[in-house]
Amino acid sequence: MRKITILLCCALLGAAVANAQDRDVVAGIPVNYDESKVGDYKLGLPDPLTFNNGKPVKNVRQWKKRRAEIIKLFEENEYGKWPAKKPALRYDVEQDLGFDGTAVRKQITLYFSPDDKGPRVDVLVYLPKDAAGPSPLLLNLSFFPNSSAVSDPGVKPGRRWNTQTRQLEDIRPMPAMGGMMGGGGMRFGQDETIKKFLAEGFGFATLCYTDITPDFEDNDELGLRGLYHTPGTPRADNDWGSISAWALGVSRLMDYFEKDPDIDATRIALTGASRLGKTTIWTGAIEPRIKVVMPSCSGEGGAAISRREYGETVAHLTEKTRFPYQFCPKYAYWADKVHEMPVDAHMLVALIAPRPLLLQTGSTDNWSDPMGEWLALVEGRKVYQLFGKDVPLGDELPAANQPIYTTLGYAMHDGGHGVLPQDWTYYLEFMKRHL
Ligand code: GCU
Repeated sequence: MRKITILLCCALLGAAVANAQDRDVVAGIPVNYDESKVGDYKLGLPDPLTFNNGKPVKNVRQWKKRRAEIIKLFEENEYGKWPAKKPALRYDVEQDLGFDGTAVRKQITLYFSPDDKGPRVDVLVYLPKDAAGPSPLLLNLSFFPNSSAVSDPGVKPGRRWNTQTRQLEDIRPMPAMGGMMGGGGMRFGQDETIKKFLAEGFGFATLCYTDITPDFEDNDELGLRGLYHTPGTPRADNDWGSISAWALGVSRLMDYFEKDPDIDATRIALTGASRLGKTTIWTGAIEPRIKVVMPSCSGEGGAAISRREYGETVAHLTEKTRFPYQFCPKYAYWADKVHEMPVDAHMLVALIAPRPLLLQTGSTDNWSDPMGEWLALVEGRKVYQLFGKDVPLGDELPAANQPIYTTLGYAMHDGGHGVLPQDWTYYLEFMKRHL
């Protein structure tokens, strides 16, 4: 029964995304899919290379100060701010061989509190068996528990939030099922994809994001956010949303990676799709130890320029029945004055400079505005140029299936929202070139 419920939830998540994509009105707010009606995205667009006081940024040294200003603007206006004190770092590691003895398998449990009762995240890591030294790896933020991400016997069963009791519950081991696409960009039983990374000398890690903090409203007291919440306190304007909490979980995992002698923590790539694409780009922006950043279909609240008001808008995202809890409360304030917003997506791109960034989109994923994501690269690339990095020089949206692998890269599959099998080959190629 439980299994059926979970599968249903996954199907529903997929359906919710698909529905939002197709409708002209979402949460009572019209959706614009007409290029001739998009907002003038340049109107009020902040210049990443101009300080808040109007002075220009002339070199990399000055950029470091401007970077701090921009991070603060995002903390105050979009994602909210991490708590000053990081959570505890405690972990257990079980190591054996996976995939019929062909790969090193580590199952890491990272605890965020000083005891075992607080929030914890299970991380499943595969490493090449014959690695001569510490392995670089791809960290995949997934919608699915590790036991559903692969069909490798011995992977610990995961947990799910029960939205009625608001408790995390263990789920019975669920066999991975080939062919079913998960919103996390990972097919159930995507063993073959992982093996391709291993064959190229990369490790592959996956975790289920809701282990860190739940993905539903009124979650102040739960998960990682709950550790910092004083009961009865209303959310401040810059209170961190779930996306920032997921990002902090990843940052803590980086602390673990630095301690693991089998993992090269200086060569970590990060990916995730949709809301996990938003999490990927924001984590990449504020966690400089992530070396390669590859958000998939992150759209509004991610890599798409909000000022275009094409597809999903800040208004849709922050409407009270949708996803305001993923952001800071102040974000909703900008819904009807997006041209006055002190940030936009190109500044996220800028924050990642000079590190390699690949935006993966879908040609028919209009809800996430692939053109808006492309324009964020175009507007953010001057910061990469300040570092002398390789960027796409043309301004025209690249065609589908024509990936660009410059330091600032763009890869659009021919299709809709999420990750297609070919996207894993884009990620792998980008990592081969840049890690
Ligand atoms: C909704 C939401 C998107 C989000 C997506 C997802 O469609 O509107 O902003 O990216 O869910 O995370 O699946």
